[in-house]
Amino acid sequence: MIETQTLPDIRIDTVVESRLPSFDPNHLKFGRQFTDHMFSAEYRDGQWTNLRIMPYGPLKMSPATSALHYGQSIFEGLKAHKAPDGTPLIFRPEENARRLNASAVRMKMPKFPEALFLKGLTKLVQLEKGWIPQGEDYSLYLRPFMFATDEFLGVKPSETYRFLILASPAGSYYTKPVRVKVETHYTRAASGGTGSAKAAGNYAGSLYPAALGQQDGFDQLIWTDGQEHKYIEESGTMNIAFIIDGTLVTPALTDSILPGVTRKSVLKIARQWGLPVEERKISVAELVDAYKSGRLQDAFGLGTAATLIQIESITYNGEEFVLPELPSREISNRLANYLRRLKRGLEEDTFNWLLRI
Ligand SMILES: Cc1ncc(COP(=O)(O)O)c(C=O)c1O
Repeated sequence: MIETQTLPDIRIDTVVESRLPSFDPNHLKFGRQFTDHMFSAEYRDGQWTNLRIMPYGPLKMSPATSALHYGQSIFEGLKAHKAPDGTPLIFRPEENARRLNASAVRMKMPKFPEALFLKGLTKLVQLEKGWIPQGEDYSLYLRPFMFATDEFLGVKPSETYRFLILASPAGSYYTKPVRVKVETHYTRAASGGTGSAKAAGNYAGSLYPAALGQQDGFDQLIWTDGQEHKYIEESGTMNIAFIIDGTLVTPALTDSILPGVTRKSVLKIARQWGLPVEERKISVAELVDAYKSGRLQDAFGLGTAATLIQIESITYNGEEFVLPELPSREISNRLANYLRRLKRGLEEDTFNWLLRI
């Protein structure tokens, strides 16, 4: 539910000269270019203040800024697309507002009011709509984040915070199906830990094992549970799903899995289409067994950056299991196509998921 009380005003300080005329939308990579402005708010004395849209640029910070030392830092990721008539569309932003606050609670940070999150985001996208690239795999990636700003050394929750939203015109994250390896030694998130929060430190800890995987030619790891490395959790920075015997099977959410907006959306669509869906524990042994008996028909990752990306092969203990050719993967092809079109306003928004700006 979104609060309806009067919201504080957002001051808008625009750039003197926009960089938009020199923006080349044809060679976009993911996460490398930023628009002219960003949204900013500051938390002090128990309140969010100084709400503004300001020129994108470096922040002035003390070297004792507590986020740098003790890691109170959380973020979100969502996208705006352009509808055929030019209207910017943001996909399910209230889900990200809610998840940011769930992350904030786990990291002992203040919540950012959901209605203010949506207002700041809307104003920023309105101002930056010229930066939303047209085209199938293109979008304006939006990055809300919050970090601790106390100038203090000592492990305790900060009393001051900064919340910002950046906007970044982006191309596709992956350009082809991914090769993945089941990770059986390193752990992304442990039970009782911070895995279901979008906390910056979770990503830092995943980089070394991911780099080892890349050295061996894998695009991503499949994370398994931290206790026994027996059960599948996620793939890289995506949720994961399989088609086994015509049923869409995905790991049930736990406190070591990030509750993805894409996962939630795909499950809703699949159920609406009448596909059998199971959210439950999936062991690596079950997966290998399903593969060997010809019942594993598909595997794919789900996340905002890629929407849906098919998995080409899964390697476990040195054995590679190559999945069926893409054209035969009817369910994931259909889901990917529908969701990509829906986000760009090319399907009727029957779920009421699009915020039109
Ligand atoms: C660890 C992790 N899992 C899953 C996801 C997918 O979540 P969403 O669909 O909300 O992007 C992400 C990306 O945000 C992630 O970082």
